[in-house]
Amino acid sequence: MAWNPYRAFEQDYTKYTAQDQLVWATLFERQIKYLHNHACDSYLNALEHVGLHPHAIPRIHDLNALLQKTTGFQLKVVPEIQPNAVFMEHLANRTFTATAWLRSLESLDYISEPDMFHDVFGHTPLLAEQTFANFFHHFGLLGQKYIDHPIAIELLGRVYWFTIEFGLVQESGQTKIYGAGLISSHGESKHCFSNSVVHQPFDIAAIMATEYNNTVMQNHYFVLPHFDKLLESLPEMEKIVQMAIN
Ligand SMILES: [Fe+2]
Repeated sequence: MAWNPYRAFEQDYTKYTAQDQLVWATLFERQIKYLHNHACDSYLNALEHVGLHPHAIPRIHDLNALLQKTTGFQLKVVPEIQPNAVFMEHLANRTFTATAWLRSLESLDYISEPDMFHDVFGHTPLLAEQTFANFFHHFGLLGQKYIDHPIAIELLGRVYWFTIEFGLVQESGQTKIYGAGLISSHGESKHCFSNSVVHQPFDIAAIMATEYNNTVMQNHYFVLPHFDKLLESLPEMEKIVQMAIN
């Protein structure tokens, strides 16, 4: 990938080009039209609450000020995806490591690693939602506790994948998207409702027994009955981790 001047440990807003602004606006407008009917209310309400819109790339400083007043979560700008230990330690401290660079106009639909549209449009709104933020924080504490056990991190990685990235949730009798990998993907946010995939009720043991391939679209998804279920599943999650490492 070409070197980006704003791949750094802080957001330098002066480095964004007109094309970057166009990429943000294009991705945002295209995706929000679809999400109005397919994303959960918690995400849509939080998106509005944190003030994200298509007219300008968000300023991390402003988002942090808002998040501080809601759940106390913060974004820490990083140039690229972080090692597990760094990522988990930040989550345990209610901080989400997020990139501040954007994909190019030529690769709107595919990127090999998370950019700002994924990290900020996909993940940030739910960081302002109390139940979800608490789960994220406790998930980070678990990750930090078992960071020296590769098997534990593998199992927790599956939880992360099938919830925070590709999770679906029941809402008023309908299945809606909340996972950031789905929220930020034009293709997979549609694919996850196609006839070729399976929707399985949320089951933490089943999730932790399911391997995934991060280079293709998923063929099955786990559907939460409600967000509280994430927090309620933490003791069982840790029990499974302990059984795996002992
Ligand atoms: Fe992500």
